[in-house]
Amino acid sequence: MKITTLAELFEDELKDLYNAETQLLDALPQMAKAADSDDLRTAFEKHLEQTRLHVQRIEEICSDLKINPAGRVCVGMQGAIKEGQEVIRSDMESEPKQAALIGAAQRVEHYEIAAYGTARAHARQLGYLKAFDLLTQTLDEEKETDQKLTQLAENQVNVKAAMSSANTDFPK
Ligand SMILES: [Fe+2]
Repeated sequence: MKITTLAELFEDELKDLYNAETQLLDALPQMAKAADSDDLRTAFEKHLEQTRLHVQRIEEICSDLKINPAGRVCVGMQGAIKEGQEVIRSDMESEPKQAALIGAAQRVEHYEIAAYGTARAHARQLGYLKAFDLLTQTLDEEKETDQKLTQLAENQVNVKAAMSSANTDFPK
């Protein structure tokens, strides 16, 4: 379908986000399984629950606007998840592997934050106030998850120690 209006573009964005979120529903349990700290596993499991809610919010917006959310493939999310799977399958040592897993998850979050930010701006321009509100709730949760992952990355004292001993020139 050729997109001719902002409303049609917004529809396309919703379908893209819907597909991205449903891809994540499958990927997050694999990431939780690969996490070797309780904190990281809990963060992934909590985000899985939130992701179910994110899917429901898009369904609600689509139902209000009489849009079928299915039928689009989010290639960006496919790529981000594939990178996460490469980390899971890699033969890295445990500590850097956990750090890489967090990094892969943060790429996913940043991708979603960008997509929700854009969709929310378009909802506002179109005067879709309920959609704007629902997208804002999800955007805030994606940002919280990203911050939690940053915290976990910074708290990985063992990783820092391992990396600084491997690279003694690295400024401490
Ligand atoms: Fe999400």
